[in-house]
Amino acid sequence: MTDSLTTKAAWKNLNAHYEQIKSKHLRELFAADPLRGKTFSLEAVGLYLDYSKNRIDGDTVSLLIELAKASGLQERIEAMMSGEKINTTEDRAVLHTALRAPRDATIELDGKNVVPDVHAVLDKMAAFCDSITSGKWTGHTGRRIRNIVNVGIGGSDLGPVMAYEALRHYTNRDLTLRFVSNVDGTDFAEATRDLDAAETLFIIASKTFTTQETMTNAHTARGWLLEQLGGDDAAVAKHFVALSTNAEQVAAFGIDTDNMFGFWDWVGGRYSMDSAIGLSTMLALGPDQFREMLAGFHEMDQHYRSAPLEENLPVILGLLTVWYTDFFGAQTTAVLPYDQYLKRFPAYLQQLTMESNGKSVTLAGQRVDYDTSPIYWGEPGTNGQHSFYQLIHQGTHLIPCDFIAFAKSLNPIGDHHDKLTANVFAQGEALAMGKTRDEVLAEGTSEELAPHRVFEGNRPSNTLLIEKLTPTVLGKLVALYEHSVFTQGAIWQVNPFDQWGVELGKVLAKKIVPELESADAPLDHDSSTNTLIERYRSLK
Ligand code: F6P
Repeated sequence: MTDSLTTKAAWKNLNAHYEQIKSKHLRELFAADPLRGKTFSLEAVGLYLDYSKNRIDGDTVSLLIELAKASGLQERIEAMMSGEKINTTEDRAVLHTALRAPRDATIELDGKNVVPDVHAVLDKMAAFCDSITSGKWTGHTGRRIRNIVNVGIGGSDLGPVMAYEALRHYTNRDLTLRFVSNVDGTDFAEATRDLDAAETLFIIASKTFTTQETMTNAHTARGWLLEQLGGDDAAVAKHFVALSTNAEQVAAFGIDTDNMFGFWDWVGGRYSMDSAIGLSTMLALGPDQFREMLAGFHEMDQHYRSAPLEENLPVILGLLTVWYTDFFGAQTTAVLPYDQYLKRFPAYLQQLTMESNGKSVTLAGQRVDYDTSPIYWGEPGTNGQHSFYQLIHQGTHLIPCDFIAFAKSLNPIGDHHDKLTANVFAQGEALAMGKTRDEVLAEGTSEELAPHRVFEGNRPSNTLLIEKLTPTVLGKLVALYEHSVFTQGAIWQVNPFDQWGVELGKVLAKKIVPELESADAPLDHDSSTNTLIERYRSLK
């Protein structure tokens, strides 16, 4: 059995080091090293990370790297990327990195190279996209497809939505893309209300093809389509395709498996946006730009696998998260992209990070005695500044922030971009340096008001500064966070690739559905749940 994390020498050394550094202010740290802004920065695969505004010094980084080594991080990375079944609780390999491997790569699973299968699916997706955009593929009534509706939830929705929004600038504007995820009928109704069924293609995206929300929406979509197209079941073949690992269920739904794009059990839902689950992204971007995105993922994979730990972007990002979570007791991390196109990036990251590392037992089944994943949240700047930044600046919680900024705007209008970028730099500076009482008083503020206008500062942040948002850059950015999550999971000794925690609610919901449909079925829940069900029955 692996040593418990908190008994490792590296952990104890970090604890002792924390006691020394916890009261140091970032002002002092910057004053002590005029080059600090450069010392604690990294550039790799075109991404520049300034991590100097963290409550660290050179010793912190060395000690965190020691912890990574003592946790066997490099061995874990190799095990993942070489197809070992590291998802032990589901007895699966974890090979999302194979989804973006070049055609001539070899990655073996149980003695078989999986890369040719990956590229066969990508080629099939590309041919399908060409047939849609060229108009060769037509709907049941002979009209060309102009609307694409992706029906999926969790990993079968969040990645596609995020990528579509993030790369909208690069998309084919002749196609309308919509996404339906929630089992709330409103989601379906609003997504389809102005669409003409004769021109609409539904992509049913579900790894398992059994998820309640997606199957409910898929059946509703079929009913909606058939009602508009005269009820001929043959229409389904021209208006529905499936993205799944479950051919049997796809066929049972009535979708020809020729129109199914497959993937494999070694692709976790939240790691699947670059698999067949990305079909909507490929339709929007075209196959060439989709492949550019995959190349970006791959570049980051290679960097993660080969760069020394202290020069490794995902490793540094992941270790800093461990540092704040376990030593400073930070409970959340804010991700704040200064790019409107990345507005769904925080939501995407929420599943990636929290469904992965929201665990409280180790791989060996022991209850952890330290904190695991922080809560990730965020909104694009500058909107967040006029909402919750007050709390980050002057509240009682320590909230490490990841700022994401771009040097070039995709919509360079007037001086918008300089103003946007000035804001992101200003926020990092204000959080780190704050404003002292003396500075406040020197501005002529009264003694009485001064405490309200003091900014303690010493609030940490990372800044990622990237030239421009492109499909390749998005691939790099997503892979950066995927591997940061893996780094955190390796330190915490948890399995980032299962999600048993979502099961219980699913089971109970299944039990409650017939109880809501019946007027008087006996109830055996707790008294709160029983009362809510009874009240719902009487109100509905
Ligand atoms: O929320 C649980 C979960 O299993 C996620 O991990 C997954 O991304 C989502 O449901 C959707 O699953 P599926 O793609 O099988 O419909």
